[in-house]
Amino acid sequence: MSAFAVVNCSELVTLAGPARPRVHNEMRELGVIRDGVIVVRDGIITNVGPRREIELPTEIVDAEGKVVMPGFVDAHTHPVFAGNRADEFEKRSSGATYREISAAGGGIRSTVRKTRAATEDELFAAASRYTQWFLRGGTTTIEAKSGYGLNLDAELKLLRVISRMGPIRAIPTFLGAHEIPDEYRGRREDYINLVIHEMLPAARKLAEYCDIFCEPHVFPVEAARRILRAAKEHGFKLRMHVDQLHNSGGAELAAELGAVTADHLECTGAAGIEAMRDARVQPVLLPGSVYALGSKRYPDARAMIEAGLAVVLATDFNPGSSPTPSMQMILSLASTQMKMTPAESITAATINAAYSLERGVEIGSLEPGKRADFAIHDCTDHRELAYFFGVPSAQSVYIGGSRVA
Ligand code: NIG
Ligand code: FE
Repeated sequence: MSAFAVVNCSELVTLAGPARPRVHNEMRELGVIRDGVIVVRDGIITNVGPRREIELPTEIVDAEGKVVMPGFVDAHTHPVFAGNRADEFEKRSSGATYREISAAGGGIRSTVRKTRAATEDELFAAASRYTQWFLRGGTTTIEAKSGYGLNLDAELKLLRVISRMGPIRAIPTFLGAHEIPDEYRGRREDYINLVIHEMLPAARKLAEYCDIFCEPHVFPVEAARRILRAAKEHGFKLRMHVDQLHNSGGAELAAELGAVTADHLECTGAAGIEAMRDARVQPVLLPGSVYALGSKRYPDARAMIEAGLAVVLATDFNPGSSPTPSMQMILSLASTQMKMTPAESITAATINAAYSLERGVEIGSLEPGKRADFAIHDCTDHRELAYFFGVPSAQSVYIGGSRVA
């Protein structure tokens, strides 16, 4: 039996609290213990508290007076793809828009072409590089979507890569309805039938959630409803990209279908927020994609918190709209652009994110019985995580009690 204690934490940010997602003012309560200690046995946290109250095992990890907190839980990423889109980024820097580039055959479809041409091992090698980026940023769990294959074999190839990812915890989501691939242009109905009848049954063996890009020019509400109802019949739980570029009622659809999360929500209004609250849909806000697309339209995080929604923050890591794996960058954007306090942002990036992946009893906080997924950050005050930007602060990162970065 292996046991160790982490001692000498200026702040032990526990996120201890009720065993459910945090809302309203609870999002500001981080359960900080000054000079706190955690004891870990066989990968599980067995004791947490102030140093004077805790009996220490012989093996000690000295946090050197720094902040210790749960690993970030990044509840929305697209980490499996070939190549990148630096060429399109350059075009956008000269004024082209994301929509124009995608209408001309670029965007998601350009990544699909490269990803189809790559072998599973090549994709795994690329994903492993990004895994290191996540870990070095203090992220210990990601939700990972397919969606750059868009045919049966290629989607399954992506899901197999996700199943091989480690030591990070990767939770698989099937996103076959991410775009209409080249060979189905002008034949959306045929592609929807392919997704429903061939992809969903096969993907179910490898994915827990089903997602969709619900947007009038890709999968409008009516098409999304059909695909996601079929997904539910196959036993998928739902996460959805909604209201990113238009308010087309995507948040209301997420509520109607009982989705676990509705993600993006840049254009969602009061009716959508109310519907999500009534149906207990968790909003996953992705300010990295607003920033990287050069938009100013951030989701209305304050209205969502005031309505009592259990807000989540995530990177949306992908090669197009949000090429960042950094949860710290997301905390910075949340505070500067969406007026979330550093404490609210940390809650949204840990315990609320864990609940949005239905793993709130295992991860997302430092409490006895939970997995020892945590990071030691090179700062003395948790607010510094959102305040300094462009400086990764994670110094050592542990998953299940083992040091991984
Ligand atoms: O969440 N909006 C759809 N999907 C991604 C972008 C994917 C891409 O551009 O490759 C998003 O922003
Ligand atoms: Fe996304």
